[in-house]
Amino acid sequence: MRAERPNEMMKLGAFFHPTGNHVAAWLHPDAQIDAGTNFKHYASLAQTAERGKFDLMFLADAVAVRAGKLAALSRWPQYMVFFDPVTLLSAIAPVTERIGLVATATTSYNEPYNVARKFASLDHICEGRAGWNVVTSANLSEAYNFGREAHFEHDERYDRAIEFADVVFGLWDSWDDDAFVRDRASGRYFDPAKLHALNHKGKHFSVRGPLNVARPPQGHPVIFQAGSSEVGRELAARIAEGVFTPQHTLTGAQDFYRDMKGRMAKYGRMQEQLKIMPGLNPVVGRTAREAEEKHRFLQSLIHPDVGLELLSNALGGFDLSEYDLDGPLPDVPDHRGIIAGQTAFRNVMTWAREEKLTIRQLYERYAGARGQRTIIGTPAQIADHMAEWFLGFGVDGFLIQPAYLPGGLDDFVDLVIPELQQRGLFRTEYEGTTLRENLGLQRPASRYARASD
Ligand SMILES: Cc1cc2nc3c(=O)[nH]c(=O)nc-3n(C[C@H](O)[C@H](O)[C@H](O)COP(=O)(O)O)c2cc1C
Repeated sequence: MRAERPNEMMKLGAFFHPTGNHVAAWLHPDAQIDAGTNFKHYASLAQTAERGKFDLMFLADAVAVRAGKLAALSRWPQYMVFFDPVTLLSAIAPVTERIGLVATATTSYNEPYNVARKFASLDHICEGRAGWNVVTSANLSEAYNFGREAHFEHDERYDRAIEFADVVFGLWDSWDDDAFVRDRASGRYFDPAKLHALNHKGKHFSVRGPLNVARPPQGHPVIFQAGSSEVGRELAARIAEGVFTPQHTLTGAQDFYRDMKGRMAKYGRMQEQLKIMPGLNPVVGRTAREAEEKHRFLQSLIHPDVGLELLSNALGGFDLSEYDLDGPLPDVPDHRGIIAGQTAFRNVMTWAREEKLTIRQLYERYAGARGQRTIIGTPAQIADHMAEWFLGFGVDGFLIQPAYLPGGLDDFVDLVIPELQQRGLFRTEYEGTTLRENLGLQRPASRYARASD
């Protein structure tokens, strides 16, 4: 038995960007070219991930078509057209049995009542496998679809997110677990004492409640969070049970891990109540050379228009089209002091200053996986890496982002998962039937039950 984390297994999520995580995935001959609106594609991915015993599948979201230069967007179809993720997961629920179904919903362009209702419904439909990734949106285009001329400021949207989540949690507790007696003999359907109106009046929301869906099977669907800024971390420490975060080095991941877990006590939470699962982009080959070749091929498919567009987005919209691709990054102004708080901006500036990368090298580094870490190698090399980060307390698990789909997922499930299982690092059977049980998370008691205890 190993000395470190002897009784623990890593947690694994599968992040399905429509055609795959790589920016040029759709150009790969083995990618599903119409993936964004192809239900059978997603159903089949979910079943493959479940065959691999993944804890969960995750779908990102934005409530807008991406904006930018059409010359670039027309070469980069990722998230231009794609299904509403909660609708899609509701359709995936009956064709899967154990895998967790996690989707993003933004707190900036929703009302808490709608989000509470959708995720409570999903949790019932999939019998306790739902999860909500709480994001605040980083995309101005969304504002234009919701009656606003500008996005909320960074910290303001997190302030709104805290209140939003609190309202959602309160609404999920509207009905006690045993509120529905459904007793034909007495003619009583529910116990009136077990129904609670929220009567929330706060800075951003006024919500009377109660919710018109029974308490979710998991009590609350599992809460995820993906922001790594100071306020993002505080939100995660306060409410998240899973964190998705880009991490580039083991020491950086260990710092993040310690920092996140260390912030939880002040919210009355224990460290095990949060699973830290950084993104990992594996490119798997049967030999190291085959893996390198696969990655080189994908990188060769990145069009400069697309690379520059992505880099410009990371730099707060700074236009790079007039600069020499093989020259250094010019000085980039930090508009209104807000973008420096954002992780992508900080990462790109660090690579430019410390590694002296040219604009082309920067977009190649950033665009392929949008700043997240790519691990290229054999199943054993990838498992070595994952083991080192897990056993070294850098992570509790990973969010696997296959470069292209479905092939990249097939490779991971067929080649890497058995390697992890052989090493005793990953399950061979699901432990439970709900996402909470599989992640090793407690089912939360209702706030009303807690108050009366
Ligand atoms: C794995 C992962 C998934 C994310 N999914 C979404 C998403 O679906 N929708 C969204 O608007 N933002 C998404 N984000 C962005 C984050 O929510 C957040 O806006 C971003 O990390 C910047 O936050 P920060 O300023 O707190 O670092 C995701 C980020 C990561 C790392």
